[in-house]
Amino acid sequence: MKSWTHDQIPDQNGRTALVTGANTGIGFETALSLARKGAKVILACRNAEKGQSAVERILQQVPTAEVSLELLDLADLNDVQKFSHRVLDKEDRLDLLILNAGVMVPPEGKTAQGFELQFGINHLGHFALVGLLLPLVQAASGSRIVVVSSTMAAGGKIQFDDLQFEQRGYAAWPAYGQSKLANQLFVQELKRRLRAVGSTVSVTAAHPGWTRTDLQRNSGFVRFLNPLFSMKPQQGALPTLRAATDPQASTGDYFGPSGLFQMRGYPKRVSMVKRAKIEEDAARLWQISEELTGVHFDFGRN
Ligand SMILES: NC(=O)c1ccc[n+]([C@@H]2O[C@H](COP(=O)([O-])OP(=O)(O)OC[C@H]3O[C@@H](n4cnc5c(N)ncnc54)[C@H](OP(=O)(O)O)[C@@H]3O)[C@@H](O)[C@H]2O)c1
Repeated sequence: MKSWTHDQIPDQNGRTALVTGANTGIGFETALSLARKGAKVILACRNAEKGQSAVERILQQVPTAEVSLELLDLADLNDVQKFSHRVLDKEDRLDLLILNAGVMVPPEGKTAQGFELQFGINHLGHFALVGLLLPLVQAASGSRIVVVSSTMAAGGKIQFDDLQFEQRGYAAWPAYGQSKLANQLFVQELKRRLRAVGSTVSVTAAHPGWTRTDLQRNSGFVRFLNPLFSMKPQQGALPTLRAATDPQASTGDYFGPSGLFQMRGYPKRVSMVKRAKIEEDAARLWQISEELTGVHFDFGRN
C-alpha cells in the first residue's frame, strides 16, 4: 500500500482546528500542515513568545493562513477554564480538537491544583479541556477529537490508589507511562460514551514513534540516541495528521509509524496496549478524572 504522507491530507478549507502545544515539535508541524491545507488553526500554547513565534513561522510558509494564538496552561485547571470560555466566546464550532501537548520525565513537580505534573498535564488538563469544549466539537459535523499517546503506554500502569505518586515516591518514567496509558483509556471511554448517545463526533489517537523534539529536554540519554533512531518532527506529525484527517479513519482508530517497533516510518493503524482495553479501568479513570477536575461531561447534544 502507498505510504500515507502530507499529500494524502484532504482539503481543510472551511474547517477549524485547535492544536494544544502547537509552538514546537509535532504540534507545530501538525498546525503547519493543517494551515497549508486551508484549515483555520488555533495554536493553544503556554508561552506567549514561543506561541507568537510559531504563528509567524506558519505565516512565513503559508502567507494566506488563518492562524491565531490562544494562551493555555494545561497545568492549571483554572486556566483551562478561562481558555475554554474565550474559545467558546470566539468560535462557533471546532472540527478538529487535537490533544498534542505533553511533558516527558520532568523533575518532580505539581500542577497548580497539586497533581503530579505528567498525569496533570498530559491527561487531566486535556480531559478538562475536552469536557469544556465539547459543545463546540458537537456543533461541527464530522468533527474529531485526536489524542496523542505514546508507545511508552506499554510500560504504563494506572495505580488507582496512588495516581499522584505520593505513597511510592516520584518515578519519572512510570509517571510518563501512566499518563500516556491514561490517554488511551480516555479514548476508549470517550468513544463508548459518544456512541451511547449516537454522537457523530469521533475520537481517534496517534503516537509519533520516536521523533526528535523538545520532549526529550529532560532526558540526555534519549537525546544521545536521537541520531540513531528518531524521525524529524515533520514526519513524526504524520500519525496525528492521519488520525485527524484520513476520511477512512473510524472512531477508536490508533495510528503509529509502520517501521520496526513503531519507532519510525509512515503511519498505519496500530493497536492500543492491552491495559487500555480494560473497560472497568477506563470507566473508573473517567469517574476519577471528573472528580479531580470538577469537569463533568454533558453529552446532551449530538
Ligand atoms: N517526540 C516523541 O518521540 C514522542 C513520542 C511519543 C509521544 N510523544 C507525544 O507527542 C506529543 C508532542 O510532543 P513533542 O515530541 O512534539 O514534544 P515538544 O516538542 O516538547 O512539544 C510539547 C508541547 O507541549 C507544550 N506543553 C507542555 N506543557 C504544557 C502545558 N502545561 N500547557 C500547555 N502546553 C504545554 C510545550 O510547550 P513549551 O514549548 O512551552 O514547553 C510544547 O508546545 C506529546 O504528547 C508527547 O507525549 C512524542
